[in-house]
Amino acid sequence: MDIAVIGAGYVGLVTAAGLASLGHRIRVGEADPTRLSELNAGRLPIYEPGLEELVEEAVAKGRLEFFADNREAATGVGMVFLTLPTPTGDDGHADIGAVEQVVAELGGHLAEGCLLVVKSTVPVGSAHRFQATIDRLQPGIPVVSHPEFFREGSAVHDFFHPDRIVIGADVPGTAAAVGALYEALDAPVLMMDPVSAEMVKYGSNAFLAARITFANTLANVCEAVGADADAVLAAIGSDERIGRHFLKPGPGFGGSCFPKDTRALISLSEAAGYDFQLLKAVVEADQEHRRLVGEKIRWAVGGDLGEKNVGLWGLAFKAGTDDTRHSPALDLARSVLAGGAQVRAYDPQAACAIPGIVCVDSALEAAKDADVLVVATEWPEFAGIDFRQVAETMRGDCVIDARNLLDPQTVVQAGLRYQGVGRRSR
Ligand code: UGA
Repeated sequence: MDIAVIGAGYVGLVTAAGLASLGHRIRVGEADPTRLSELNAGRLPIYEPGLEELVEEAVAKGRLEFFADNREAATGVGMVFLTLPTPTGDDGHADIGAVEQVVAELGGHLAEGCLLVVKSTVPVGSAHRFQATIDRLQPGIPVVSHPEFFREGSAVHDFFHPDRIVIGADVPGTAAAVGALYEALDAPVLMMDPVSAEMVKYGSNAFLAARITFANTLANVCEAVGADADAVLAAIGSDERIGRHFLKPGPGFGGSCFPKDTRALISLSEAAGYDFQLLKAVVEADQEHRRLVGEKIRWAVGGDLGEKNVGLWGLAFKAGTDDTRHSPALDLARSVLAGGAQVRAYDPQAACAIPGIVCVDSALEAAKDADVLVVATEWPEFAGIDFRQVAETMRGDCVIDARNLLDPQTVVQAGLRYQGVGRRSR
């Protein structure tokens, strides 16, 4: 099938390249000229493992093309996937302006019977709103809600191995038509109405954010009572009813999705007349947890960060990506900079986004002369570093492992002090 994908962000590019590899012909519309020329030159504007190869292969097979003009990209296609950004507006609502604009732009220019497939995360009710817009301009174009569940850093894997494919449609047959695109994949296709499909996305992300926050806050209690959070959470997660995933303590949930989607769900609940107190508490507890991790750094240098050197390992919001949006690492950096410390940071993929941080080329360089070293992103290479060399190059002797990534024993044997999240300090 010929499909247009509008918006070459990470969801758009992975969807486009993934669908192309399933045999469909994809026409990507991208309005940003810099991004477009990068793509046409064979360079990806984002780092996503496996994506470059997938895009290259699709382009070589003639199944993937890029267009500056969205109408041209959508010419004659059977479906248009909308993969545009929906940033949080001032009031906490997801801003669907970019999607609305494209729906309006395409109205009157689509082939008869074409489906508009909404992949962007949009507030509940948006598919119906887009339907009203397109109905005014070009009746007979059904809008389908088809939320996305890729994780950054494993988006290509997630495309080919989804736990489920969720499709919400009002017009009979349209959800099945979208589901048929994925025939080659071994995944259940869950069909429902568009409002419910939109709700699945927010519900999933909010639930995962709540799980992480539960793990983080329980870890804080473990630390206070002298229990080992890793052992406790592993045992809790071995109950099949609970499951092991997303119970890893860390510095708080980050990225472009959980912080945005939790707030958007609170806001859309409020607009619908429901006070989602539980989710509000999750967001507050996450903020407080981030503050407590920051406090550990202050504690490590004796209470005053002024003139102190902080070595920061990791900037990305998690390992496997160069994305620093809502990264807890950056929050930690900001808070220690505000306390008067200097920060030397190293990340294998992410660039430094905050003025005042000195970015260096290796983990050891970041540790040089540090009074305290902070592991903020769980890049596996940090666990394999020789801590005797770290101890030699540091000025102080404390390691704050905000990801519970390191082996505490190895750190302590190198003559350093160790403090994790919910682990006994040594
Ligand atoms: C998340 C969801 O996992 C995807 O299913 C969804 O499609 C995506 O949002 C989206 O809405 O687009 P992503 O933001 O890429 O994916 O990142 P996650 O892997 O979910 O991690 C989010 C944050 O939680 C990161 O800061 C991560 O370090 C943290 N985390 C995750 C923990 O602190 N502990 C865990 O056990 C798991």
